[in-house]
Amino acid sequence: MAGTGSGAMGSGYGRHSAAQHAGLQAAVGLLDRALAAAPVPADDRAFRVADLGCASGTNAMEPMARTVAAVRARRPGTPVWVTHTDIPANDFGALFATLTGPSSYAHAPGVHACAQARSFFEPLFPPGELHLAWSSIAVHWLSRVPLPVEGHIYGSRARGAARDALRERSARDWDAFLGHRADELAPGGQLVVVGGAATDDGLSGAEGLFDLAVAELEHLVDQGVLTGEQVAAMTVPTWNRTTAEFTGPLLSGPFRDRFRLEEGEFVVLDDPMWERYTADGDLEAYADEVAASFMAAFGPSLFAGIPESAATAGRFAEGLTARVRDRPEEGAARWRVQLLRATRLGHSDGTHAVA
Ligand SMILES: C[S@@+](CC[C@H](N)C(=O)[O-])C[C@H]1O[C@@H](n2cnc3c(N)ncnc32)[C@H](O)[C@@H]1O
Repeated sequence: MAGTGSGAMGSGYGRHSAAQHAGLQAAVGLLDRALAAAPVPADDRAFRVADLGCASGTNAMEPMARTVAAVRARRPGTPVWVTHTDIPANDFGALFATLTGPSSYAHAPGVHACAQARSFFEPLFPPGELHLAWSSIAVHWLSRVPLPVEGHIYGSRARGAARDALRERSARDWDAFLGHRADELAPGGQLVVVGGAATDDGLSGAEGLFDLAVAELEHLVDQGVLTGEQVAAMTVPTWNRTTAEFTGPLLSGPFRDRFRLEEGEFVVLDDPMWERYTADGDLEAYADEVAASFMAAFGPSLFAGIPESAATAGRFAEGLTARVRDRPEEGAARWRVQLLRATRLGHSDGTHAVA
């Protein structure tokens, strides 16, 4: 395995996740339709929800509030139990602060929130337990990097064997994700994924920003702050799937008998930071925010194995900020996102009475 960090978000993620929030906004209609279709249990049993890849939970508060409202509209008083999951390296303290904070959905009576620290490529729940599995901007993180990307840190810039290995890893991870959710969802249960995606050319929309990051890393090697070996081992453990890579296993692959793909929509998001900059012209604020967002999402995986990583990451962030200031258009990320809604097929065995 290439030497990289885990994919956990940095501590500033909650404040610097406007781009991910934009992805979530695109999925509101899909979530509403999932909530209209999902089975709601009878006899005061809880409607069970998984939020898969929750980070600090900031962007989960709106969809979970929507979930509680929709379930209660269909069957008043139904308890709702949400499990927020992420990898063990996640900042779960930040999640619990969000869950107990003023924007939380979890203050309502009969609403229960908890967390689980385990990868979504592993089993997370007992069979048939979930009514809604929700994941936003998380499934592009891979379980591991199979080979480092030569001359770059980003999968979409990989060529040859590294590109093949990343695509293969991504396919296996996606199969694992779908397989476990197929086991865990009740019949009729809904899977809603807002997935970091790529157009058929393999591009995610953030290549310019990653190119600026690589230029800064090379500069830090020239300055003796990092070694060439350290930078060569840095690969962000992500793969943005094409629509075909997302839907293949559901339409014609191993999951076509376990899920019915109800909706799939490919969206190119505006960059909210760029939109603000073009409106207010504040280049300093734009460059600061782009670099802070990059560090929140990717800093931990790039700098985890580096001695004195905080100081080095700080130096890198300063340099990246200056590069974005010099080339603001390149810092704009127009992320591509695949929205998916699928129904778990199968018949209730009677243990899950539904509305
Ligand atoms: C960009 S954040 C998205 C967080 C949140 N869902 C949102 O919409 O803002 C991606 C999250 O996925 C998590 N993640 C990455 N790999 C994971 C895995 N194998 N299992 C569970 N979570 C994972 C990361 O730790 C991170 O918290």
